[in-house]
Amino acid sequence: MKHTEIVHVLQTEPTINELTIRGWVRSFRSNRFIAVNDGSTIKNLQCVINFENFNQDQLKDITTGACVEITGVLVKSQGQGQTLEVQVSSIDILGTADPEQVKLTILSPKRHSLEKLREQAHLRVRTNTFGAVMRLRSKLSFAVHEYFQKNGFNYMHTPIITGSDAEGAGEMFKVSALDPKNPPLDDTGNVNYKEDFFAKETNLTVSGQLEAETFAMGLGKVYTFGPTFRAENSNTSRHLAEFWMIEPEVAFNDLADNMDLAEDFIKYVITYALENCQDDLLFLEQRLIQEDKSKPMAERQEMTLREKLHFVVDNNFKRVSYTEAIDILKNCKPNKKKKFKYPIDQWGADLQSEHERFLVEKHFKCPVILFDYPATIKAFYMRLNEDEKTVRAMDVLFPGIGEIVGGSQREERYDVLKQKMKAMDISEEELYWYLDLRKFGTCTHSGFGLGFERLVLFVTGMGNIRDVIPYPRTPGNAEF
Ligand code: 4AD
Repeated sequence: MKHTEIVHVLQTEPTINELTIRGWVRSFRSNRFIAVNDGSTIKNLQCVINFENFNQDQLKDITTGACVEITGVLVKSQGQGQTLEVQVSSIDILGTADPEQVKLTILSPKRHSLEKLREQAHLRVRTNTFGAVMRLRSKLSFAVHEYFQKNGFNYMHTPIITGSDAEGAGEMFKVSALDPKNPPLDDTGNVNYKEDFFAKETNLTVSGQLEAETFAMGLGKVYTFGPTFRAENSNTSRHLAEFWMIEPEVAFNDLADNMDLAEDFIKYVITYALENCQDDLLFLEQRLIQEDKSKPMAERQEMTLREKLHFVVDNNFKRVSYTEAIDILKNCKPNKKKKFKYPIDQWGADLQSEHERFLVEKHFKCPVILFDYPATIKAFYMRLNEDEKTVRAMDVLFPGIGEIVGGSQREERYDVLKQKMKAMDISEEELYWYLDLRKFGTCTHSGFGLGFERLVLFVTGMGNIRDVIPYPRTPGNAEF
């Protein structure tokens, strides 16, 4: 018999017809009530058995973690906690799970810490929290594509292996097929990459931006959504070594258009989650409310998860220049009282997460777009302003997260770009094709990158980026 997913079962009316479901046992109480979850929804389906009708051998295998196929009739539930339940007529154990072994895992029915869940990442998708986060992650991915497709963007796949450092920050993982123990050497004693697979030095991409720019100069509006890699040793709750980035790039957009696009896009995907992921958001919201109860009053959230999401959707992001932000930071209380780890004393300082969070959470109390940063602290490809000190960069800062988007209007002038690359020691030889764009029909264009996990972090209210990606890669960790 074809089985029905629990999400659909829970939307049907009771009938006399039998139905079949398949899933994993969450719990089995009083030899009578089996809670089954199949991943299609956060909700379990209660299946009630009349144990006199089943033999002991069968009953003993109905254990937490086991995979079952159950056939029965859907009826109105007599008990509390659910409106529907299945009166079981037959049960097949598709895969057993030894209770003694289950006890040692996160499948055992008690509260486990998120750290413990990470250690058993291959099993954590069967927990309520991680299941909810991963369903949301999937829905958000879809919303990303839906937004760009509806708005006439072309999805492009940028290369994973590249020879260029798009950010010019040197935080790349090398890709090589040479024998690390015995690499070929050149005349000067250095590794001879000419003998390597690609006959040159290559690395995993840190961003698809430069290739996206080439496509924007022909297709007009494009976006990438793919994995990116950073070998930065940032062991924080917001950094991953492998993360997914969404990068739109648009011909003829200036910085103001770029800000409009970022704001509209973020609001669209958050609205999508609010409308299409209600059960999972409600569960995650309740989870945060419970968590808050153990915290001192001052540290508790002012808004519930869904209130926070509505707040972002319903309010304009505040647009503030870097210069204005520095003035605010220089004169703010924590700076004067030396509470910042990195005190702000002058224009030109790079903003740290503590500063970004102060601006968003304490000062403006809403998402902020900072723009026109000093050229010295931003990447080579950003357009130089008339003041020759600042570039048309923008960062979108979010409460609880800090930077969620980084973008800019691109330097479209050949000579200026060439000069900047020289000053920043970026190889012209390597990026000749990028410079070429400025020789053949150059134009104003802009784009940005949104770290997908940071978005998922915000929407789910989770505290650590390792808990919003299936298998996190961080310094010292590439398990699974
Ligand atoms: O600000 P970033 O480095 O910008 C770029 O890569 C540009 N090429 C994007 C563009 O203009 N097309 O990174 C963009 C975003 C950040 O705002 C952040 O959300 C995320 O990528 N990000 C990370 N997310 C998780 N772990 C990391 N290590 C991240 N580094 C950046």
